[in-house]
Amino acid sequence: MLEGLVVAMLGASGGLAEASLHALAEQGAHLVLMGRRQGVLEERARQVRARWDRAVQVVVGDIQDEETWGRLWAAMVSLPGRPFGWVCLVGDPGRLSPDQWSVPKLAQLFAVNAAAPLLALRDWGHRMKAAGYGGNAVLFASMQAVHPIEDSLPYALGKAALVYGARILAKEFGTPPPVRVNVIAPGVTEAGMALASIVRGKYRPYVERGVIPRYGRPEDVARAVVFLMTPDLYMTGQVLLLDGGLTLRRDLR
Ligand SMILES: NC(=O)c1ccc[n+]([C@@H]2O[C@H](COP(=O)([O-])OP(=O)(O)OC[C@H]3O[C@@H](n4cnc5c(N)ncnc54)[C@H](OP(=O)(O)O)[C@@H]3O)[C@@H](O)[C@H]2O)c1
Repeated sequence: MLEGLVVAMLGASGGLAEASLHALAEQGAHLVLMGRRQGVLEERARQVRARWDRAVQVVVGDIQDEETWGRLWAAMVSLPGRPFGWVCLVGDPGRLSPDQWSVPKLAQLFAVNAAAPLLALRDWGHRMKAAGYGGNAVLFASMQAVHPIEDSLPYALGKAALVYGARILAKEFGTPPPVRVNVIAPGVTEAGMALASIVRGKYRPYVERGVIPRYGRPEDVARAVVFLMTPDLYMTGQVLLLDGGLTLRRDLR
């Protein structure tokens, strides 16, 4: 499905990213992997090359730095095939107790969870439009962006803004050939930033009470990423909530 196409993954060193980048490579995509931990990125690149025989470039940088966006594009056009996809898993869970909340701390979390991903995507969208390419972008929000969960203010503010910003960019980039912009909002998934809380038992009552049948898996997310990378996807500006029904059913006794 993605033969001859290049997909950039931002936040490719994180827990949720691994299954998704292999799923994209399995579909034929060449990949640019971006994050801050070079060792993890290089190892993942090595595994994708060995397992799927795809071309892979690594870009090390902070998503808040505009020069990183330019290096990401340069890496995309250096690969065989044409730029097509942009998937951003960058996020900061903002684990602050309410007595630690302050305007600067919430602003910093907002920068990583909303402002930087949205401006990086806008930069990519303009480069795609200038080159005459259509493509697909996916941003990662959270169930906490679409459902108010107690004490989630530092994290949820940015993620909710990300959802709204995705709709604005979907509108801006929708003229043919469109650059489609959609959002995945995961629930409690057994990888990355949720893993420590799962191990601590924070979400166990939801499984024990039958609110959700199980925790989410990175493979659930990977399936959604592959779907949202469909080259003729007939969907933009939307949110896929992958929470197993947790937010819908959490008030059931
Ligand atoms: N796991 C879940 O259950 C869950 C639930 C809801 C939403 N999400 C969302 O899904 C996405 C992926 O989550 P995850 O569980 O895989 O989290 P993770 O393991 O903590 O990964 C976060 C990723 O973001 C990157 N990152 C953070 N700050 C960055 C910055 N300033 N510049 C560049 N990269 C930066 C990290 O790169 P380095 O490690 O290289 O610094 C890492 O690759 C996040 O947006 C998260 O909010 C996850």
